Amino acid sequence: MIENYLNKIILGDCLEIFSDIPDNIIDVTFADPPFNLNKKYNNYRDSLEFKEYLNWCKKWIHEMVRVTKPNGSIFLHNIPKWLTYYSGFLNEVAEFKHWISWDAPTAPMGKSLQPSHYGILYYAKELKNNKYYEIRYPHKRCRRCGFLLKDYGGKKSGLHPFGPLVSDVWTDIHRIKHNKYRDIHPCQLPIHLLERILLMTSDENDVILDPFSGTGTTAIAAKRLGRNYIGFDIDNKYVEISSNKLQIEQTKSKIGNAFISIFIDSIVTLRDKDWNQIEKNYFIPKNKKLIDSNRIVFKEKNNILQQLDYNDHRKRTSNFHNQLSLKLDKCNCHKT
Ligand SMILES: C[S@@+](CC[C@H](N)C(=O)[O-])C[C@H]1O[C@@H](n2cnc3c(N)ncnc32)[C@H](O)[C@@H]1O
Repeated sequence: MIENYLNKIILGDCLEIFSDIPDNIIDVTFADPPFNLNKKYNNYRDSLEFKEYLNWCKKWIHEMVRVTKPNGSIFLHNIPKWLTYYSGFLNEVAEFKHWISWDAPTAPMGKSLQPSHYGILYYAKELKNNKYYEIRYPHKRCRRCGFLLKDYGGKKSGLHPFGPLVSDVWTDIHRIKHNKYRDIHPCQLPIHLLERILLMTSDENDVILDPFSGTGTTAIAAKRLGRNYIGFDIDNKYVEISSNKLQIEQTKSKIGNAFISIFIDSIVTLRDKDWNQIEKNYFIPKNKKLIDSNRIVFKEKNNILQQLDYNDHRKRTSNFHNQLSLKLDKCNCHKT
């Protein structure tokens, strides 16, 4: 039965399609529903009465949990206002793991603080045995001088060359701002946001379900990472757009045997356990303190760096120091 849905975007109402999906068969469910903010969808009215909206949400949230495997995870993306209610629904049927705060400025709402994050609720169907992998993101640096923004005090020699473990505040993934990078859809999510979620909670060949697939972001992330996907959307235009994109999409977010998430030309998320296999692709200074001033770079990306003799520590050190003084001349961020 599930084969009829696997690796497809299904046209229809999510509650109707859910009724056809058996219990406990999905590894990760992710939902980015309409926010009830009167957005201009192709053929969907995004302005229900308060109670009507919440009653409807409760139904599909319970369906998401029902179809998720006992060791699986459930993610809900929305504005904080709705997540406070979603949390109440989820607490009845699943177990809380995190409220992820995704830093993304939104429209001013009048007499209120400027909303500057979306929330992603992360629940386990059962906390015991929940599938979870530690993930890392690149160190944050000053855009001008390249130095680490965070002061690790006297511990810089113990820095992870790639970057810290991901916390529950995500400030390094941005909304898609330019129209040339998006489809005709009012709220398309970035693919590397979903890749991060899937690297953290699923394995190759697992099944990922998104009941509000839109432009297919979750499905594309799943396919790039070698996972199976199931998407639903009520709008045939979005089903067509996403199905067409998925036809040409490939499993490509991978270096050797390790799945990673790439944005533009850099890795933005990797699994901590995969670092051992990935690090050989980077130039990494033996003196870890140099990571303070210099981003590690891919060997094959830069022919000049490729030719540097990285076994010659002295030569490398002086090179880094030269770059460093040049950068410091131009930036004030380390002069206090
Ligand atoms: C916020 S958008 C999802 C955007 C998606 N995450 C992306 O990155 O493109 C919500 C989607 O839910 C769809 N939708 C609304 N009501 C639905 C329903 N009852 N069943 C299935 N899909 C629905 C809309 O057509 C819209 O594409």
